[in-house]
Amino acid sequence: MATLRLGDTAPNFTADSSIGTINLYDYLGDSWGILFSHPADFTPVCTTELGTAANFKGEFDKRNVKMLALSVDGAASHRDWIKDINEVQNTTVNFPIIADEDRKVSDLYDMIHPKADSTLTVRSVFIIAPDKTIKLTLTYPASTGRNFYELLRVIDSLQLTANHKVATPANWEHGQDVVVSPAIPTAEAREMFKKGVKEVKPYLRMTPDPTA
Ligand code: BEZ
Repeated sequence: MATLRLGDTAPNFTADSSIGTINLYDYLGDSWGILFSHPADFTPVCTTELGTAANFKGEFDKRNVKMLALSVDGAASHRDWIKDINEVQNTTVNFPIIADEDRKVSDLYDMIHPKADSTLTVRSVFIIAPDKTIKLTLTYPASTGRNFYELLRVIDSLQLTANHKVATPANWEHGQDVVVSPAIPTAEAREMFKKGVKEVKPYLRMTPDPTA
């Protein structure tokens, strides 16, 4: 499978998981989705990530984002590992983990980077819009756990910019000022954004977050 790029359709698959067989498209329905891979079960960083992800599920739910993890071990192993995660992270893993023993989904999503590790996945993230297009990809090495605050932050940006002609500046968080899309002339922007437009430079126009 070629590398998946932004705007590509997320390939559908049916796979076993910690909660039984899952079809990606059926699972996502009309929601957004986040698919994130873990190198292997019973590994320390992955254990902290999955516990953290479980504790963040309420925030993903608020944003209408269905969570789906993946590791290249089997479903029975996932279920045993989940008991450990729940214990040590004081949580309840409340989303499925794909069991990808044959690497079918990992290959489909190019999650195995042979020069990093020939058999285990890297830490890939795919954020999928309701129309099934890929809106964001991230790739972290096995040695670096992901920042789930950043994943929520980027979802806020993706959802905002899907519905408003704005972009979000560096380190932006929900509620902070946003950038007017470069394609919109300032006079038009002043009509469009009733909360006001500040022209810092002709190409850098700021407006309050339209959803805040
Ligand atoms: C971990 O999750 O801790 C891990 C997994 C594979 C390689 C290195 C670390």
